[in-house]
Amino acid sequence: MRIRINEKQRLFAVSPMLYGVFFEDINYGGDGGLYGELLANRAFEYYGSDGLTDKHGMCWEPSCQTEFRTVCGEPDGAQRYSAVLRGTVRNTGFCGEGFAVRAGETFDFRMTADGSADAAVRIVGASDASLRAVLAEGHIAVNGRGEYTLSLTASVECKNAYLEICTDKEVTISFTSLFPRDTYMGRKNGMRKDIAEMIAALKPAFMRFPGGCVVEGRSFEDMYRWKDTIGPVERRRTNRNRWQMDEYYQAGGSAADYFQSYGLGFYEYFLFCEDIGAKPVPVINCGMTCQWHEGLTVELDELGRWVDDAADLVEFANGPATSEWGAKRAEMGHPEPFGLEYIGIGNEQWGREYFERYEVFERELKRRCPGIKLIVSAGWTDSGEEFELAMDWMKNNREGAYAADEHFYKSPEWFTDNISRYDSYDRSLPKVFIGEYAAHTDTDIPKRRCNWYAALSEAAFLTGAENNSDHVVMTCYAPLLAREGHWQWKPDLIWFDNDGVYGTPSYYVQQIFAWNRGDHAAAAKSDDPRIKLAASVTEDGSELILKAVNISSEDIETEIEADEVYASCEVTELRAEPEDENSMAEPHKVFPSVLPCVPGGRHRIAAYSVNIFRFKK
Ligand code: AHR
Repeated sequence: MRIRINEKQRLFAVSPMLYGVFFEDINYGGDGGLYGELLANRAFEYYGSDGLTDKHGMCWEPSCQTEFRTVCGEPDGAQRYSAVLRGTVRNTGFCGEGFAVRAGETFDFRMTADGSADAAVRIVGASDASLRAVLAEGHIAVNGRGEYTLSLTASVECKNAYLEICTDKEVTISFTSLFPRDTYMGRKNGMRKDIAEMIAALKPAFMRFPGGCVVEGRSFEDMYRWKDTIGPVERRRTNRNRWQMDEYYQAGGSAADYFQSYGLGFYEYFLFCEDIGAKPVPVINCGMTCQWHEGLTVELDELGRWVDDAADLVEFANGPATSEWGAKRAEMGHPEPFGLEYIGIGNEQWGREYFERYEVFERELKRRCPGIKLIVSAGWTDSGEEFELAMDWMKNNREGAYAADEHFYKSPEWFTDNISRYDSYDRSLPKVFIGEYAAHTDTDIPKRRCNWYAALSEAAFLTGAENNSDHVVMTCYAPLLAREGHWQWKPDLIWFDNDGVYGTPSYYVQQIFAWNRGDHAAAAKSDDPRIKLAASVTEDGSELILKAVNISSEDIETEIEADEVYASCEVTELRAEPEDENSMAEPHKVFPSVLPCVPGGRHRIAAYSVNIFRFKK
């Protein structure tokens, strides 16, 4: 078989934004995941489904003979609820699993408390009270209302440690927090380091956030409002996580404790984007709740506040420190602008009621925030009545939106059948942002696998995206994160537990595609339809990059012919058996290897493999 590359014929500039990530707080990906906070219900704001105040003690477990009750504070004050404690109470952590400690690791604890008492603060190492081993201990003399801090250094390692507070007299506690000192980039209120490093290692060009259906919420109360997520963390109002009420795939479990503390808020998202070198792509609520549920809408003539929120977000990100919202950013520690360029108006919305609302945002934002690129939703799928309606709307609105956000949760076969989907897309329509996609090996969520078969089909599909990246300008897999044993959605790109993290085969496809994006697309052809190709050259033309995905069960011998003569070559190969998966025990079962190869002549493209050749002059 021959592969012929005409790298001198530069077709178009490959979109520098082609490979990004999509972060949503689903599967405990935010609170209990990426966000470094280790205490669940740190401000006693979680509540049971009946909304009773006595449920505000969720995730706190008092020992016997302890007096522990939650009480209402000032309804509009910073801390709406508090806990009154005399005795010992333990925070059970996210999903009841506590948190992991390594020997010698330091944690920073703080609490807002009132009273007059001695408070022992401990990290304890076992769930059974009789076995409770103290791994670290410090003391706070509570003397009137104030904020109290201490650091704790663990003596030994433990996968499920818990924080315990023990007081000799009555104390009222309204806010607590425990962070590992060693967060990603050492940020205060920062991200869990190992998870953040996994995301950063994808070298994403952008990050879409904060969702997903989380943006929409299920009701007007839990719709996402970015303004609730900034300012001092202890003043941010906890909100129910929309995924709390979804089916939950854990034996006998429920996600009743799934809330958004908003400690990971818009400031932190922007900062994280900056830290990992990704452009921020926030998605804002367009005045609609999740259409998979009630799909409530804000009346068109009441959208003003929502539009103001969007315009204020641009000012928060980009405005001078002297502007109203720019000042809030500066006050939080970032006087320089964040350089926001894109905003998604609504998440996965469809139907006339969406486009009516989008148009209000577009009209206003074009005027108030010129230069910001607007992303319009193309709905939840690839075809059908709703997709056609979206496409018809785009045809009448070629100028307004920068890109249309398409979502594909489809079978692996759909991905391999749709490699040429964009070959014939009308280039005068808004550009394409594939804002959510993943190959689903089954329609039943628990049966879906994060296997090589799915990842290979995504790789093949991405060659089609790259070959059309004059128009398909951004792509990101979804969802990004999932906590082992506690998830609502599968497949996901990165899995973690208290002290481990691993990438699925799809993760490594994302990584090697993102690491090997050239600047200009080049023409490449194979005479075997089982091989899917994308070729590009670097800006200075010193390297030719060829992506070859063999979706068949047979090895294929190829002869690669290029315009130029190359001095050296290396190939990144990802290959596995279709059913292979990574896991905590075997995180690198499907893992890329980089091998030298001979630039001219024959190459074997293994069955079920992705190969990225880099030919160097
Ligand atoms: O990625 C999971 C969900 O899929 C997102 O929240 C939503 O946008 C889509 O339906």
